[in-house]
Amino acid sequence: MEDVKVLVEALPYIKEFHGSTMVIKFGGHAMVNEEIMEKTIKDILLLYFVGIKPIVIHGGGPEISEKMEKFGLKPKFVDGLRVTDRDTLEVVEMVLDGKINSKIVSTFIKNGGKAVGISAKDGLLVVAKKKTIKKKVGGEEVELDLGFVGESEMVNPDILKILVDNKFIPVISPIAADKEGNVFNLNADIVAGHIAGAVKAKKLIMLTDVPGLLRNQNDPSSLISKIDYSELEKMLEEGKVKGGMIPKVESVLIALKEGVEKAHIIDGSKEHSILIELFTKEGIGTMVTK
Ligand SMILES: Nc1ncnc2c1ncn2[C@@H]1O[C@H](COP(=O)(O)OP(=O)(O)OP(=O)(O)O)[C@@H](O)[C@H]1O
Ligand SMILES: [Mg+2]
Repeated sequence: MEDVKVLVEALPYIKEFHGSTMVIKFGGHAMVNEEIMEKTIKDILLLYFVGIKPIVIHGGGPEISEKMEKFGLKPKFVDGLRVTDRDTLEVVEMVLDGKINSKIVSTFIKNGGKAVGISAKDGLLVVAKKKTIKKKVGGEEVELDLGFVGESEMVNPDILKILVDNKFIPVISPIAADKEGNVFNLNADIVAGHIAGAVKAKKLIMLTDVPGLLRNQNDPSSLISKIDYSELEKMLEEGKVKGGMIPKVESVLIALKEGVEKAHIIDGSKEHSILIELFTKEGIGTMVTK
């Protein structure tokens, strides 16, 4: 009886979500443990089999850093973005396309899901351009060169439509190219935000390794359960968001601006966090509304 009750309680949510597209960003930090990764993939498959169309985008931060160190390269970040020289780019492609993307796809297949691995350059899904960032150094604004770090200039979701309409689950790595074919390393969060906007997703779900957006980064009990666009924008402008959370928050703002209904930042290392966030009133992480 208890089991059946759970199903019945989920019915309104299933009804609401059936037929809608959800973009799920799989954070590298939420994938370091294979067991957790497989559980999350099973949860995404549950969404798929109740009629939700998932589009998965993944990062791979911890594994890239680990491999870089093996090759004698030192990981360096500016505002959550990895400084990427030519050697680093090679490692990034190797790890993201060669390893993580492939692992996610095979884990979907193992559990009965028709996943297709692509990178953001495939089918011109994302056309990239070199990203530069401005930073204040000693009161003066200077432009920093991050190497082969890109940002998306245009998103063309045709390839995703073909896959999703034919019941495939796209699994996307954040490697994109410009029109000349130069390859760039993009932040997966930002790519997820743009893609969610381009496919008019119902939700953007960010899986990471912290409970959600924290009011105080060092205090896990300071979780913000619900926040709206303008308050989140204010937190970002006031410098209250740091490191890897910066691109996540930017991505959420991009997605909401482009028409996505809601965005969620949740702890992907906690069992069934996606299901708790989507199918219960209380949720588990941070929900961002318009
Ligand atoms: N206000 C904040 N609330 C929560 N986390 C924060 C905050 N400010 C900074 N962070 C940091 O952001 C990190 C999450 O971003 P990070 O880029 O490291 O992981 P990810 O995006 O999930 O993985 P990947 O980059 O591999 O895809 C957290 O581990 C935390 O240290
Ligand atoms: Mg990140």
